[in-house]
Amino acid sequence: MHKEQVLLLALVPAVLGCLNADSNSCASFIKSQVATASPFCATFTKTVVTATTGLPSWATNCSNKPSMISAECSCAYTGGSNPTTTLVTTTRAATATTTTTRAATTTGSGGTGTGCAPVNQLAGFGASASGAGTSGGTTVTSCSALTAAAKNGGVIKVSGLLSGCGVVDLISGTSLLGVGSNSGIVDGGIRIKDANNVIVRNLKFSPAKKGDAVSLDGATNVWIDHNEFYSLGLVGGKDDYDGLLDITHGSNLVTVSWNKFRDHWKGSLVGHSDNNASEDTGKLKVTYHHNSFNNVNSRLPSLRFGTGHMYSNCYTNCPTSGVNSRMGAQVLVENCSFTNVPLSVVTNLDSDANGYATERNNIFAGTSTTRITQASSFSPPYSYTMTSASNACGCVNSSAGVGIVTF
Ligand SMILES: *[C@@H]1O[C@H](CO)[C@@H](O)[C@H](O)[C@H]1NC(C)=O
Ligand SMILES: *[C@@H]1O[C@H](CO)[C@@H](O)[C@H](O)[C@H]1NC(C)=O
Ligand SMILES: *[C@@H]1O[C@H](CO)[C@@H](O)[C@H](O)[C@H]1NC(C)=O
Ligand SMILES: *[C@@H]1O[C@H](CO)[C@@H](O)[C@H](O)[C@H]1NC(C)=O
Repeated sequence: MHKEQVLLLALVPAVLGCLNADSNSCASFIKSQVATASPFCATFTKTVVTATTGLPSWATNCSNKPSMISAECSCAYTGGSNPTTTLVTTTRAATATTTTTRAATTTGSGGTGTGCAPVNQLAGFGASASGAGTSGGTTVTSCSALTAAAKNGGVIKVSGLLSGCGVVDLISGTSLLGVGSNSGIVDGGIRIKDANNVIVRNLKFSPAKKGDAVSLDGATNVWIDHNEFYSLGLVGGKDDYDGLLDITHGSNLVTVSWNKFRDHWKGSLVGHSDNNASEDTGKLKVTYHHNSFNNVNSRLPSLRFGTGHMYSNCYTNCPTSGVNSRMGAQVLVENCSFTNVPLSVVTNLDSDANGYATERNNIFAGTSTTRITQASSFSPPYSYTMTSASNACGCVNSSAGVGIVTF
């Protein structure tokens, strides 16, 4: 986007809220009627319009409101001479961060970008997870040392990329922390099974074939923060690898924050089966905030039975689906940015019973759509700090992943 256009968009406050093209006829027209809308938008957004005169007849579906048309034009097109090929991704014009009061836990280091929520605070369903804290502990540089240390729990610092460790089990009261900006577990993974109070931060994870990178199985009070999850991309078979972060078998009270998920088929599965409701009902309470999902096919996350709160995540180029609410799951998706994510939020895919979802204040750009058949009734029982949807990708791109909060 050109600088002048960014500046111009900043003058139009309504640009912050892109409407859902599935449910709003103005947004739908502007997004789908490219031949009419995009040439119109190309000139329209270059003028600060204050009157309703001169608006075309289709603008009645935009309530004849210049601000709404301008906002939707900005959401769908950058304008200019070739608008059909310049779909807007996100607008990084100056916007305010929405702040609600909260009791924050701040640990370790880490800064805060302009217009971004604090990058080093624990909020959400996993807010009670402290692991073993972040100081002292054992530093490991080999798989054998990691496996031995994991049996004792406490603070374990991984230094360097450890490859081929198999699946390492973590026990209750563990902090698994990466040293610097290039530490992690590749061609292997970790499992938190029937354990309580574990934190996992600042680590790279790339799974072994057929395995998960990180799996929570009957785990409670867990914080997964500032990690990077990836494999080879959308190549080979969909089932060559398993999930990047799977949360199953009645796991509960989990916060997944400021992580980067990229280049993989199956993102994050919450609830492993349609057929074991008794195990998961009333559990699987998860918060995903300020994560990026780029070039991950689906499950961002896929949630069965549980309760999911997704805010200020950045989704780009995820070709099948985004937040997939199934089997009566309750989901709230707010202040997120979706670019080229078909079925960004969906409630009737893949399972016998539909899920519930509410989306508000999100940006849906490019090929992004939603398919919500029933609204959720869930409202978060905690306070939290969001980043606006228009700033989400900028803040997450620069402050999620490894090397931001270091140990
Ligand atoms: C306005 O919206 C309605 C309802 O979605 C639709 O039927 C109609 O065709 C739209 N009008 C124009 C001019 O696009
Ligand atoms: C179903 O849930 C029970 C616990 O409620 C568990 O022991 C069992 O392994 C689960 N079975 C499957 C197939 O997931
Ligand atoms: C973020 O979401 C909240 C609640 O849905 C909304 O009130 C607020 O306007 C949004 N903030 C921004 C900056 O878009
Ligand atoms: C964020 O990163 C994604 C993936 O690389 C990219 O597609 C997107 O344009 C970036 N957005 C911003 C605002 O930096």
